[in-house]
Order: sequence, then C-alpha cells, then structure tokens
Amino acid sequence: MNYRVPRTRKEIFETLIKGLQRLEYRGYDSAGVAIDGNNHEVKERHIQLVKKKGKVKALDEELYKQDSMDLKVEFETHFGIAHTRWATHGVPSAVNSHPQRSDKGNEFVVIHNGIITNYKDLRKFLESKGYEFESETDTEAIAKLIKYVFDNRETEDITFSTLVERVIQQLEGAFALVFKSIHYPGEAVATRRGSPLLIGVRSKYKLSTEQIPILYRTCNIENVKNICKTRMKRLDSSTCLHAVGDKAVEFFFASDASAIIEHTNRVIFLEDDDIAAVADGKLSIHRVKRSASDDPSRAIQTLQMELQQIMKGNFSAFMQKEIFEQPESIFNTMRGRVNFETNTVLLGGLKDHLKEIRRCRRLIVIGCGTSYHAAVATRQVLEELTELPVMVELASDFLDRNTPVFRDDVCFFISQSGETADTLLALRYCKDRRALTVGITNTVGSSISRETDCGVHINAGPEIGVASTKAYTSQFVSLVLFGLMMSEDRISLQNRRQEIIRGLRSLPELIKEVLSLEEKIHDLALELYTQRSLLVMGRGYNYATCLEGALKIKEITYMHSEGILAGELKHGPLALVDKQMPVIMVIMKDPCFAKCQNALQQVTARQGRPIILCCKDDTESSKFAYKTIELPHTVDCLQGILSVIPLQLLSFHLAVLRGYDVDFPRNLAKSVTVE
Ligand code: G6P
Repeated sequence: MNYRVPRTRKEIFETLIKGLQRLEYRGYDSAGVAIDGNNHEVKERHIQLVKKKGKVKALDEELYKQDSMDLKVEFETHFGIAHTRWATHGVPSAVNSHPQRSDKGNEFVVIHNGIITNYKDLRKFLESKGYEFESETDTEAIAKLIKYVFDNRETEDITFSTLVERVIQQLEGAFALVFKSIHYPGEAVATRRGSPLLIGVRSKYKLSTEQIPILYRTCNIENVKNICKTRMKRLDSSTCLHAVGDKAVEFFFASDASAIIEHTNRVIFLEDDDIAAVADGKLSIHRVKRSASDDPSRAIQTLQMELQQIMKGNFSAFMQKEIFEQPESIFNTMRGRVNFETNTVLLGGLKDHLKEIRRCRRLIVIGCGTSYHAAVATRQVLEELTELPVMVELASDFLDRNTPVFRDDVCFFISQSGETADTLLALRYCKDRRALTVGITNTVGSSISRETDCGVHINAGPEIGVASTKAYTSQFVSLVLFGLMMSEDRISLQNRRQEIIRGLRSLPELIKEVLSLEEKIHDLALELYTQRSLLVMGRGYNYATCLEGALKIKEITYMHSEGILAGELKHGPLALVDKQMPVIMVIMKDPCFAKCQNALQQVTARQGRPIILCCKDDTESSKFAYKTIELPHTVDCLQGILSVIPLQLLSFHLAVLRGYDVDFPRNLAKSVTVE
C-alpha cells in the first residue's frame, strides 16, 4: 500500500502481479486482485475484484481486458491486495479464488493463506443469520464473519483492526490474512496464526522508529455470540511506525520476502496473533494475548538474501526445503482430522462412503513411483485395521494385466499431482467397472480428485522438487488415518488404535529429531558419492523405505540403486554383495527384527560392510555395522515415516556432491501426463 506516494493504476497492477509471480511456487491454480475502483478523492468508494482460474499470467491478461480500468489514473493512497491460490477447499475456479468477499457490494474482502478448520461451524452460524455464501472455500467464512461483526458493532467509530481482532478469535486452524474494506478506505489490516506473514517498509525518509512497540488490549471473547460486546483501548501515536513528518511511505504485506524484495529489503516479521494495521500512513501492531516470545516490540530487519535464496529459505534446493518441512506437512495432514483426546479420526471426504467401503470385497491401492511406495508402506497396517484384503498396484502394470475389478471393490488412487496419466487411466478403468473410487492427492481440483467418487486431500502444501519427499510421508499418514477411521468400531483393535494415534501425535517431534542427523548423513554421503551402485535392504514395514530410498537415489544422483526385500536376499541379490558394494540395511525394532538379523549375518559373512539404519536402543545390530544411523523409535507401522527421511537426505547430499541439479533431475518430470 502506498501512502502519499503517487502511483498509477498500471504501476499498482505491476507491483501486485509481479509479487504474485514470485509466490507462484506456493500455488498457482487461480489468482485474483482487489483494487480501488475509483480515485481516492471520490467519497463513495468501491472495490473492484478481478479473479481468474489458472496461472497468474492469465490474471495479468484479464486485468488489461477490463473496460473500466483506467490505467493512467493516479492514486496518492492506495491499498491493493492479490493472491495466488493452492486449493485446499473447493476446486480451482474464479469464484473459489481469493480475494473472498463479504457480499456482492464487496464491503470487505480478504485474502488467506492457510486452512480454517472450523469454517463449517462458522458458515452454519452465518447462514443462520442470513449471509449467503457463493464459494466452497473456508476463506469465505472469514469475509462474511467480519461483515457480521461490522453489522452488529456497538459503536459507529469501531476501528478496522478491532473488527479483525474479533474475527480471529473465532478462527481455528492456520492463517495469514489481509483485509480491505470500503468502510475503511486507504486502510489495511493483516494478521497471522501458523502461516507466515511479513511487512516490507519503503520510505526515502527517516522512519519514526526501528522498533514498533506492541499494544496489548484487554478483551474477553469466548464465543461467536458475544463477539460484538468487547471494549477496546485507543491507539496512541507513539506506538506507530511512519515516515517522519508524515512523508511518503509504502507498506507491503506478503507471505514471504520473495514477493517484495525488489521494492524493499526492510521487513518486519509478524508473530502469531499479531494484528498489523495501517491507517493514515501509520503502521501499528497490537495483540490480544501476550506473545510466546513475550517480545514487547517488532523490529525492522534488513534482509541480505538473494531472491532465489528467499524462496528456498535457508535451503539450497526445494527438495531439501521440502524434506525439512515434514514436521509441519505431517501435522497439516492430521490437522482437524485426528482428535487425540477421544482417539477418533474423521476424514470429511470419506465419511459419507464409509458404510459402502466397510462392505467391500477388497481394497486396491494404485499409484506410480513414490505414490505407489506409499501404498506398499501402508499395506500391512491397512490389512490389520480394515480386516480386508489389500492389493497394491503399479498403475501401468495394473492396466497391462487387464486386472479383474468388480463393483464391490474399492479402488484408491494415490497421486501427489493428481494428474499422472497411468493413474488416471487406471481410475477410469475402475470407474467403468463400477468400483467405488477414492482419490488421495495433494492437488485439489486435479483430474484425479475430480473424477473419483470421494477422497482425501493430503494437505502437504505445494511440492516443487521433482523427487517427491513430503508428499510421500503425508500420503503415508493419510492412508493410516483411513485405516484408523475404518476400525473405530472394532473392539478388539482399540488398544492398537490408541497406540497408533499416540504415535501419530509424537511424529512431528520425532521427525525433527531425525532431521537433526543431517550432518552425520552428509558425512556418510562424502564417503559414498563416488560409488556406482548402492543397495538398500529391509523387510516388513520398512520394505517400502528401501524401495523409496533407492528410487530417490536413482532419480537425483543417477547412481544405480536397488531396494531389496531382505527376505529375497538369499534368492539372488546376495550374489551382488562383496567388500566393495555399499549396502544400506534398514533394521527396526519390530516383528521382523530377528529375520533382519539373519540378513545382516548373510551380508557380513560375505565381507559386506553394512551401513545400518536402526533404532537408538539397538545394541545388537550396531555390533556388526560398518556405520550406523540411529533413529528414534515409534510404533512399528509408523516407523517407515522416520526411516525414509535419512535416505531422502542421503540422496540429496549425494546428488549435490556429484554436482547435479537436485530439483530438476535429467529426463524426469514432476507430473507425467503421458502414458
Ligand atoms: C513422476 C515423478 C515421481 C512421482 C510419480 C507419481 O514419476 O517424477 O516423483 O512419484 O510421477 O506422481 P504422482 O503425482 O502421481 O504422485
């Protein structure tokens, strides 16, 4: 937003669109902007919304097609908002894209990054008050809620930030929000919880302060019914940031610095529940609750990073960033679905079909590449929890065989992109045979999520690196959640269910522990990177880890690598073992432990030098190891989520040491839309 910095509408568009393009790596299924429709001098303001399905480029073209857009008109103060979407609720479409609005008159508009988990309750409440919804998004509930608070305000002079403060106290889930309103022309309010948000500050003039003191306000709001009955203190100008002497200043709100770095490198990082407001060219920040850090101010920081670096954070590649996002992505897969108090799981997208699924003849789980490995990884726990036969299938092979499929089969299609041609064709094949089809994808609105009867969105967030990492662990968790939901009524399985649910709860912390082994894994990569071949062996719950680890190594290091079922070792692969061949063995404390020890003996007897991935308390395996990587222990059926991470990291470091482009390996594509 610019304050006393004259900008033409064209310049405003360019700033917004360029910012969105920088953020496209976070999602790009639709985009939209909200800008002032009339000159600032005009009393009766209106907000113009332009939204478009597709990439930001499509929105850019659309803006210039609009007749009412006078590109030369100049604004001294202007606040525009823009958003590029990665769908979490509702298919990609113009109406589901952001900004979302309070009503047809666009009185309040909002953009949102994150997921609101209680949006259905809010929607119900607001519908009962007569508010009409037009989209399928969780975000629309926020736009309507702020209007509800405004319509029911107790005083005329209520501030914009007070409204937002009341709104966020009703929200559950994760959000970064920016609001604009015709009732508060030239003002901006932004806030966050769980999702990142920063403010860039640009001014040629000296700023009033480099530290913005936080204002704490007292209010007590328990539920949506009395959100309009609180009293707020007034803002004091010493708590604001502005250019000295009310000179020209521009503020930029963004999810990350990549969107604004070309305008300014001076930024303020907001913390959870901070509410930042710009009114009259002054930025103030206030909170209802004291912050966890209890820092009484927010500092303006100067970023030194390059654009590419900012997009990847402190990581050298998207793949590495995505590996490190796993504590969070796993948490997002479970968010709003697992109730750790009552030990229950609810997958909203499947609940209406649960009866039918429980009655089925068998489950067929179909995917390609990493997605297929997620099916292999969870097959045993699905068999145990659903008490149904479970077939896992590579989509291409499933089609080649003209596999018999019946109308009482339930077929799962696992796909990060939701667009993989083989998987999509297998889906159509099963639909033709009238089986119930279930999609497990990371992409709302993708072909697979549209064409299946029902499904689960894994909520891992956009995955950019061609080699899939966080999508795998989130697919794994989603399938386990499905098994838990299916077994809710099985009395004999209650203890087991509780054990798994407890295990799920501690997963994010344990993943962090595994990630802290990166340096050790890097050292291992230094020893291995000149090798031509690498074998990865294991069995039972960890067989999928071997397949997936070997695939990661193949995909990005171009080394030969094989995932070997340890039970098959003596039937062939043992012939490969000698002093030179590096062998990674995954040996976890689970029912296969003793059998894995046999495989270990078979390898060491041939002078093999095994690198062992084992549990922290395993003194037995480490005795025979050339090297060990010790992992925290979790429930047997979840251990594969932890054991795959060292192999993701190893493949990453091997590829870097071999000098390859980790995110874009030769000959491969992220989404393979040809058979
Ligand atoms: C391609 C990618 C793999 C991915 C596979 C399945 O081969 O390179 O990383 O696992 O497709 O993709 P999907 O989007 O269906 O999970």
